[in-house]
Amino acid sequence: MKKVLIATYSQSGRTQAVADQLANLIDSADQYQIAVSDGTFSNDMYETDAIATK
Ligand SMILES: Cc1cc2nc3c(=O)[nH]c(=O)nc-3n(C[C@H](O)[C@H](O)[C@H](O)COP(=O)(O)O)c2cc1C
Repeated sequence: MKKVLIATYSQSGRTQAVADQLANLIDSADQYQIAVSDGTFSNDMYETDAIATK
């Protein structure tokens, strides 16, 4: 049986809420929440994209 990992980073919890719903639908799914230190990302999505890419 295939193992499923749902790995997420969620700044405000929206993405996490969707991931939780998916995990409930997939019995075998493991979840992993990617954590970053406070202040790692910006409130500007373009700047956040550059930081994440780097
Ligand atoms: C790098 C980056 C790219 C994004 N691109 C889009 C986009 O193309 N369309 C959109 O509707 N929202 C975009 N957003 C906004 C996020 O998808 C939105 O704020 C989402 O609710 C964030 O979920 P989270 O709080 O769980 O991280 C982007 C945000 C970031 C940081």
